[in-house]
Amino acid sequence: MDRRRMLTLGGLAVGGVAAVSSAVSVSAALKGEDRTAERHAHGDAGGGGTDARTVAAAPLVEPFSVAMPVPPVLRPTYVGSTSDLYQLPVRAGTVEILPGLATPVVGYNGQFVGPTIRARKGRAVALQVTNQLTNPTNVHLHGGFTPAVHDGHPMDFIAPGATRSYAYPNLQHATTLWYHDHSHHAEAEHIYRGLHGFYLIEDDAERALGLPSGQYDIPILLRDALIGADGSLVFDPTNADNRPHILANGKPQPYLRVTGRRYRFRLLNASLHRIFRLRLDRGQLIQIGTDGGLLPAPLAVSEVRLTPGERVEVVVDFAGQPAGTRVVLEDTSGPVIGFDVTGPATDDSRVPDRLIPLPALPAATVTRDVALSFDPSKLAFTVNGKTYDATRVDVQVVNGTTEIWRVTNRDTAFGIHHNFHLHLVQFRLLDRDGVPPAPGEAGWKDTVHVPPGSTVRVQATFSGFTGKYAFHCHFPEHSSLGMMAQFEVVNKTA
Ligand code: C2O
Ligand code: CU
Ligand code: CU
Repeated sequence: MDRRRMLTLGGLAVGGVAAVSSAVSVSAALKGEDRTAERHAHGDAGGGGTDARTVAAAPLVEPFSVAMPVPPVLRPTYVGSTSDLYQLPVRAGTVEILPGLATPVVGYNGQFVGPTIRARKGRAVALQVTNQLTNPTNVHLHGGFTPAVHDGHPMDFIAPGATRSYAYPNLQHATTLWYHDHSHHAEAEHIYRGLHGFYLIEDDAERALGLPSGQYDIPILLRDALIGADGSLVFDPTNADNRPHILANGKPQPYLRVTGRRYRFRLLNASLHRIFRLRLDRGQLIQIGTDGGLLPAPLAVSEVRLTPGERVEVVVDFAGQPAGTRVVLEDTSGPVIGFDVTGPATDDSRVPDRLIPLPALPAATVTRDVALSFDPSKLAFTVNGKTYDATRVDVQVVNGTTEIWRVTNRDTAFGIHHNFHLHLVQFRLLDRDGVPPAPGEAGWKDTVHVPPGSTVRVQATFSGFTGKYAFHCHFPEHSSLGMMAQFEVVNKTA
């Protein structure tokens, strides 16, 4: 069969389904009564869709020729006594990703990496979102301990032209969260076109540690893209491996000027499909945090691995590097960021030996099995054999209880990677195939890699909010094609 017509669904090469050779037919086959997918497959994401088959890729830019920006911090429009109000339009915009090329995007504030929201523990945030697109969207605070009605449920849309407010209580400890579109069937394309940004929660315990802060505390959104020669973002879910442009904060393999001191980098993988394996070509990565907060102690690591949706926080000390040195953060695919050391600096930051302790794990009372698998006969991605149905409750959890979920990736035949994300809670990884987690994965997590054939066990305590929440694979091209399910937290009736 024609190799170019082989369907690669999230990197999966499916032989024998050559008849289904485009995103359009995949979406059409799976859309059911929902027309959103079809509209999106035809490129109507409000940001100028492009037919993957008609556009040649723009040439790669010489690495380290463009400066890496830091996403601006969003200013509240109203500061109350216990909460802050922010306004965030979702709209089409045009940005320069590759030098000299205009790229239509869909962004929060029209920006390709949305503005960073810096919240404080115990101070609520009201986020007023106006949908200026021509199709529905919504906002999910990934990793947030959020009431169900404000969680950005996959079927809870903001209609075109409408405004709605999300209320985030910020009851959790200091952490690096992110926000993104979660409108079912459209989330993959929406995130791809730019609906992603950081949401950081700060607290006193973290501040007391004296970690690098202010301009030395830098969130970095990593992702890939296929940018056409005309500048357009080409979204082709049938060829997820063909996204050669590696972007850090929306720029291709950029440089960042640093001084000879410590920096805190909050790394997020916002790709749909790419797994990053990051290391430094010189110097040392000190991991200080995971998805949901700081580790109990800093950890010297040679590599950090990030599947889509995961975060890792690191500190890098450039003090030992002479001026003129370029320290390269590299992925197995090539360079990602060049840190150009400009000269010495004073540094009053610290990385204490003890960071934030992890509480002992409470005893779990329930164990559940979750199987992630691709169904080639239906071209569907499933959880326990079923595609997502928002009207179905797959798992009922009693408020206040602790559970162990055993998650298995059954896709050994196709070698498809998945990961596993739970809304509402931060969980702890108990083991991978019976082996205790590496220390860098032993902290608070909300998304965990599940390689083909592997089983992970995670433990979570569901306490505080009731209602319906999603859980899913966080390769959005998989979740938008069904690899998502629903749990409901209920109060126990006597
Ligand atoms: Cu990052 Cu269900 O989300
Ligand atoms: Cu989430
Ligand atoms: Cu998956």
